[in-house]
Amino acid sequence: MAMPVLAQPEVGSDLRPVPVSTRNGLLEILTMRRDPFDFSQKRLEQYGEVFAMSALGTRFVTAHGAEAANEILMNKDRAFANAPAWSYFIGPFFNRGIMLLDFDEHRHHRHILQQAFAPKVLKGYFDEMQPVIVDRVAKFPTGEVKLFEEFKELTLDIALEIFLGLELSKPEADRLNKAFIETVRAGVALVRKPVPGGRWWKGLRSRKILEEFFYKHIPAKRATATPDLFSVLCHAEGDDGERFTDEDVVNHMIFVLMAAHDTTTITMTQMAYRMAEHPEWQAQARAQSMELNAELTYDDLAGMTMIDSIMKESLRMCPPVPAQPRMAIKDTQISGHFIPANTMVTIPQLANHRDPRYFTDPDVFDPTRFGPDRAEDKGHRMAWMPFGGGVHKCIGLYFGQMEIKTIMHNLLRDYEWSVPAGYRLPMDYSALPVPKDKLPVTLVRR
Ligand code: HEM
Repeated sequence: MAMPVLAQPEVGSDLRPVPVSTRNGLLEILTMRRDPFDFSQKRLEQYGEVFAMSALGTRFVTAHGAEAANEILMNKDRAFANAPAWSYFIGPFFNRGIMLLDFDEHRHHRHILQQAFAPKVLKGYFDEMQPVIVDRVAKFPTGEVKLFEEFKELTLDIALEIFLGLELSKPEADRLNKAFIETVRAGVALVRKPVPGGRWWKGLRSRKILEEFFYKHIPAKRATATPDLFSVLCHAEGDDGERFTDEDVVNHMIFVLMAAHDTTTITMTQMAYRMAEHPEWQAQARAQSMELNAELTYDDLAGMTMIDSIMKESLRMCPPVPAQPRMAIKDTQISGHFIPANTMVTIPQLANHRDPRYFTDPDVFDPTRFGPDRAEDKGHRMAWMPFGGGVHKCIGLYFGQMEIKTIMHNLLRDYEWSVPAGYRLPMDYSALPVPKDKLPVTLVRR
């Protein structure tokens, strides 16, 4: 029997149709969540780089490989849009966040938002951030510690301090933290309706909590300029003096806080895990940190090559944003395949980062692959793409790396940590990739 296809290209077209998996869509999603690497490998072998499946009430095309990622993200034909794709997952919770805007409107908002991430502003954040990090890392508990939880709390504290510039009570900070977690988790709910008590319902409830919180603080932020992101967004102006409305500020704040929080936490968790699994890397990174002063300068960050390579390799093996969806808004093509309008496509960067065409022994943790002699990440502009690419490329990539490096520098100087021999981090891939056990380590003060 012929393999079913997504849609036949026009007669005479050079394009090939996309094969469609006939397996049960829900089972496919569950299989993928259990082991996304094995899933990708098997589907690649069966269908090739581009294939479709039906799941969660829609049809997804998965387009493997750096070349397909490049076609989709560089979007020369303006055929792929973010809003209808990301909205499907997180729309009700991250309404009109910058990642959910497209084309001219996106360019306009990004231009204003960019001001909050300009080098001079970043240096200001760094100065604000450093004492918080030094103080908080020094107070980490010792003994058996779940590092994922420590990082999560710390990145939230930093976000509140640097982005909000507000002193919050512990219960209020906890309430915000919970609201963020619930909004993120809601996006990948299998039941996509507000059933009371369900993930979707909790996500909507949390969005409301966040909105109320930000609207309440806008008047004070508009009144006085302070060095936090919230204030910068209230005062930033486009070329013609146009400003964000209150609604824009709230939407961007909620989105940016979400984008900054889990991604950095996941990256540090992976780095800490890999350095516990490979104590030789922990020792080398520590040696480099000990050569620097405890208090870093902004310029020190560029010289932290060991932490940098460990970070890059952790981002390769487990990119915090494991896949990027887009919607084809007109008939188009990917890698010679016909993609009809209104098809959801995804770039599976979690799987792409294990592509043996670019990475030798891709399942092995090896930070030296980023050294100048090997530079495996440079084999293709989309071979290593934890921050995405094209016009929506992560706006916080320098901020995130600055935060991660500073925290890791302090952790390495203040502590040593280990996991039992043979320990493997059990991962939950149902939303962003997080450890099921929250990474328990033995943390010892040096
Ligand atoms: C290691 C940390 C991080 C990773 C791996 C990461 C990853 C990504 C990825 C893959 C995208 C593109 C999504 C797409 O095109 O579909 C993205 C976009 C974005 N990220 Fe990050 N991110 C990180 C940290 C941050 C931080 C710290 C911030 C804010 C301070 C941030 C703010 C944003 C924003 C605002 C966008 C949307 C940009 C746009 O659509 O124009 N990210 N990020």
